Amino acid sequence: MLVCICHSVSDKTIKHWVRQQGVTSIRELRQLTPLGSQCGKCVRHAKEVIYNESQLI
Ligand code: FES
Repeated sequence: MLVCICHSVSDKTIKHWVRQQGVTSIRELRQLTPLGSQCGKCVRHAKEVIYNESQLI
C-alpha cells in the first residue's frame, strides 16, 4: 500500500529501510526519499510504519 502518494513510497519500502538501513525516524527516512516534502499528509502514517516495524526487530 502506498504511504506517500506524491512520491510513490509504499509501506513495504519503508519497512525494508527500517530493517536494512536501520531507519528509526522520519528524519532518517527523508535522507533516503523525499517522502513528506510535497503535501505532507503521509508523515503521520510513515511514522506509524517506522514505529510498528521497529518493534518487530
Ligand atoms: Fe507524501 Fe504528499 S503523500 S508528500
